[in-house]
Amino acid sequence: SLCDIGFIGAGVMGKNLILNLADNGYRVCAFDLDHSRLNTLLEQDARETQGERERGGRPSRVETCNSYTELLAKVKAPHLIILSVPAGAPVDDVCNKLLDAGLKADDIVVDTGNSLWTHSVERAKRYEGKLIFFTTAVSGGEVGARFGPSLMPSGDPYAWSRIEPVWHAIAAKVDAASGQPIERFEPGNPVKEGEPCATYIGPIGSGHYVKMVHNGIEYADMQMICEAYHVMRSSLGMAPADIAAVFREWNRGPLNSYLIDISAEVLSTTDADTEQPLVDVILDRAGQKGTGLWTAVSSLEVGCPAPSIAEAVYARALSTRKVLRTRAAQKLQGPAVAPMEPARRAEAIAQLHDALYCAKICVYAQGFDLMKLAAREQGWQLDFAGIARIWRAGCIIRAVFLQSISDAYERDTRLSNLLLDDFFAGQIAEHQGNWRRAVADATINGIPVPALSSALSYYDAFRTESLPANLLQGQRDFFGAHTFSRVDRPEQQKYHVEWSEPERPVVGI
Ligand code: 6PG
Repeated sequence: SLCDIGFIGAGVMGKNLILNLADNGYRVCAFDLDHSRLNTLLEQDARETQGERERGGRPSRVETCNSYTELLAKVKAPHLIILSVPAGAPVDDVCNKLLDAGLKADDIVVDTGNSLWTHSVERAKRYEGKLIFFTTAVSGGEVGARFGPSLMPSGDPYAWSRIEPVWHAIAAKVDAASGQPIERFEPGNPVKEGEPCATYIGPIGSGHYVKMVHNGIEYADMQMICEAYHVMRSSLGMAPADIAAVFREWNRGPLNSYLIDISAEVLSTTDADTEQPLVDVILDRAGQKGTGLWTAVSSLEVGCPAPSIAEAVYARALSTRKVLRTRAAQKLQGPAVAPMEPARRAEAIAQLHDALYCAKICVYAQGFDLMKLAAREQGWQLDFAGIARIWRAGCIIRAVFLQSISDAYERDTRLSNLLLDDFFAGQIAEHQGNWRRAVADATINGIPVPALSSALSYYDAFRTESLPANLLQGQRDFFGAHTFSRVDRPEQQKYHVEWSEPERPVVGI
């Protein structure tokens, strides 16, 4: 019989999505230009279904093929073709090859890569009338893809009506009562109960925009955890295993999240060769594929401050300048710091905990504000409570905390900034003393905390009624006659000072 879905790209993410689809009852025909990947897929499928077969369970539902033409012949029409290929030119390459192979106007192609959202918009236009170009941003890495990712679909509503049951089946699930992920990592035994972490985001482009912001938040979240680690390591003189224990403790409270959990795992791992803590043998040069950068660029373009996300991108960039940093470390003086007395350690750790918590609230405030302003520009109606809900499980930033964000947007769907929600405002009011202390101590001790401190500046600027932008406007008027508004007159009325005249008269424009 014909397959339900054609799948192109059997790399790690593609292979795992295919096996997840098969677990959920879909017959999939897979194609990859690299045939060895198809063999790996078939081998894993055979291994995973063997036990099932012995118990009279499901047969393999995965097939492979050797060409785009064969793929179309093996899949039911109108075709549903899912792509898991690298973002950029390969997406267009595959679309064109599919068209050459006879894809029709009512066939659907779903891009699941980390594509730039504007490219998705362009593609939908480019292929209009030739195929239905739909996108679904996927978060959750390899394990998410295999056992339940968080999915951010966007595009043509007809395509959504076809893909919705498929995505609902394979997505991560959340227990409706507790808001907690339902985790089960067993091949052939997918989680069927619970709320799926897949919701229609909106018109083409919006899903990848939301995923891009997810990644920007991911960058900031990761960077802030690294800053807390850096302070504990350098200022508090703690060993990686002790820091792992602190993270495990934090994971039982409001900071509970996948990223805290895996940080503890990394810190408690020993390098097999050297028997040193693994983290000590990993080179401190951070990589990046671009999604955090796109978020920072978009925040500048939209004019929506997301400084902690941008700082996280800068921190990765600065980390790559290892040679220069090594030279600077010999030459540039830092403060003379006395080692911290062990008696103060518990207090300092508690301060770091609260710093991370408050800064995390600010990072999400920045990310959600950015989505809100971008949505206004693009005319998208984003459901922020829904977005927070599908990030509760499956994705990299999954955290207990996202339930509180979803609750905040449910209380007020028009909430202008997360910081103005009573719950979050109260949390920061309560914990800000520790946050300020942690940032101040790190600064005095010469430990860089760019994300934690920029979040604090964001918070302080956001809650300041009179900013020094009045002086700034005066400066602009002084050298460029750029004009200014007055506090005591209607804002649309502009003024300029004749700075060269001795009396410096203010004139209306
Ligand atoms: C996810 C991740 C995933 C990936 C990115 C970011 O949500 O599953 O964000 O998309 O890890 O490639 O990676 P970089 O750190 O390399 O930019």
